[in-house]
Amino acid sequence: MQGILAGKVALVTGGGRGIGAAIARALAGAGARVVVCGRSKLDLDAIATSIDGSAHAVDLLDRAATDAVLGTIGPVDVLVNNAGAAESAALDRTTDAMWDRILELDVTAPFRVTRALVPGMIARGWGRIVNIASNAGLTGYGYSTAYCAAKHAMIGMTRALAIDLARTSVTINAVCPGWVETRMAEEAVARIAAKTGRSSDEARTSLASMSPQRRMITADEVAHAALMLCAHDARGIHGQTIVIDGGAVLK
Ligand SMILES: NC(=O)c1ccc[n+]([C@@H]2O[C@H](COP(=O)([O-])OP(=O)(O)OC[C@H]3O[C@@H](n4cnc5c(N)ncnc54)[C@H](OP(=O)(O)O)[C@@H]3O)[C@@H](O)[C@H]2O)c1
Repeated sequence: MQGILAGKVALVTGGGRGIGAAIARALAGAGARVVVCGRSKLDLDAIATSIDGSAHAVDLLDRAATDAVLGTIGPVDVLVNNAGAAESAALDRTTDAMWDRILELDVTAPFRVTRALVPGMIARGWGRIVNIASNAGLTGYGYSTAYCAAKHAMIGMTRALAIDLARTSVTINAVCPGWVETRMAEEAVARIAAKTGRSSDEARTSLASMSPQRRMITADEVAHAALMLCAHDARGIHGQTIVIDGGAVLK
């Protein structure tokens, strides 16, 4: 897929580490000029330097700051809504503040960024939107009410917008990974180990065992799917959920 994004500009939210950093590298490798954003300037600068891209520090929970950054980036051809967070809690410990935080970051911010950038894509006659959802957007998981609700909402948004965008040259899809080897998974491992007294290795094995393949996904596997969706020959893939979880959601 070398060169398929030559001349295109891509914005990857949460592109400073984990899945977002892998996607930023993959899109840059295909010729895109990549802009990464997130809160940690150090992480963002390191990635941007390595791919000859640019970095914008922004907290996506801050709507005004997000709008200000979008106003400075210029036209964007590929939008990857990747920034996200998961917090784990039983229902009685799922506070209003936690609910609002997760819904704002995992679905409202992607909605607002998409709404800002889609008109330019339509006007220029080409665009790709890739929403990094989760298999938690397709099924329920324990202690994850807010996260599952947000990821289900992101998939609903993807499907609805696919109808609205079908007569344009802009596609929108959701990628739904299972557990991926990133900081988010390591935080889950630490939480499980602390709560259950299991070792970190045992906790990691229990997460990996949720997949019939008995392993976690790598960030590069998710990046491969995101890049594939940007190809010209992927223009018929629209409003879909690409699940990358070794079959976990089938169990
Ligand atoms: N890891 C998994 O097992 C897994 C599975 C399915 C889906 N996903 C999804 O994949 C996406 C990426 O997650 P990851 O695994 O790569 O986790 P990660 O390593 O924790 O990365 C999360 C990214 O989001 C950014 N971010 C978090 N809060 C932000 C905020 N308020 N404003 C701006 N950026 C923010 C982070 O940057 P800063 O901290 O610098 O802001 C970071 O770049 C998420 O949407 C997640 O839900 C992950």
